[in-house]
Amino acid sequence: RILNTADSFINIAEREVKNVPLLRGKSVFNLFFENSTRTRTTFEIAARRSSADVFNLDIVRSSAVKGESLLDTINNLTAMQADMFVVRHATSGAPYLIARHTSAHAPHIHVINAGDGRHEHPTQGLLDAYTIRHYKKDFSSLIVAVVGDILHSRVARSDIHALTTLGVPEIRAVGPKTLVPNDLAGMGVRVCHDMAEGVRDADVIIMLRLQNERMGGAMLPSAGEYFKRFGLTAEKLALAKPDAIVMHPGPINRGVEIDSSVADGRASVILPQVTFGIAVRMAVMSTIAGNTA
Ligand code: CP
Repeated sequence: RILNTADSFINIAEREVKNVPLLRGKSVFNLFFENSTRTRTTFEIAARRSSADVFNLDIVRSSAVKGESLLDTINNLTAMQADMFVVRHATSGAPYLIARHTSAHAPHIHVINAGDGRHEHPTQGLLDAYTIRHYKKDFSSLIVAVVGDILHSRVARSDIHALTTLGVPEIRAVGPKTLVPNDLAGMGVRVCHDMAEGVRDADVIIMLRLQNERMGGAMLPSAGEYFKRFGLTAEKLALAKPDAIVMHPGPINRGVEIDSSVADGRASVILPQVTFGIAVRMAVMSTIAGNTA
């Protein structure tokens, strides 16, 4: 339903059609306690193009740095008549804590998870599913390889949940043993510790960034060694299907997980993913506000 709703917003995302009044009169607060380029900005664009009033809390200049608790910050923003919180936080579960609190104290407020720790990034999972459906039309015969630091990746977890739900028959989790433990197979994926095996005949390759900020210690010999074994180069991409697409949630680290010739090459749909993210986030916000097109 969300992907179909996003289809109806794609002209707005691509700026061919003007704004729509779906969230007119609503106040959307972007609460990004962790850095972001794509998610924060596309949520803001999506909210503005849906005619919402948008407020970006500047965390560095907020009272959070003076010791105010997360829930006291939320109480104060609730008093400013918020309707929706879009929350990114380095701690897994933070948006759920806020949602539990607001459901008791201000049940009209909707809370959207914009990425929490290493747990989930649901709207990224949805926009990745949207991107795959856009280029491949049908999920039912696809091989999708998710490559890199899956252990620390909220995007990988949300992608795997979304694509499994949508009927992708083969999802491969590809990377070194330290970053792709064998027990990930419990999520219904095939674990591959060899890049060639992982990308061979794939229809979709989703590359992931090394989440250095979430690694407790050295989990790799070096970035150069990692690139040699698991970096996506034109040679490794040639093992996939001839019409394979390459995705990445960003930010990309050129020469670490992906070669520039691939990131900027014919198979790359990394930048269309960003545009699709506007339509998908419009769909999510309008759906939870009860205003689908
Ligand atoms: N994909 C993603 O979450 O990117 P940002 O960190 O820039 O939001």
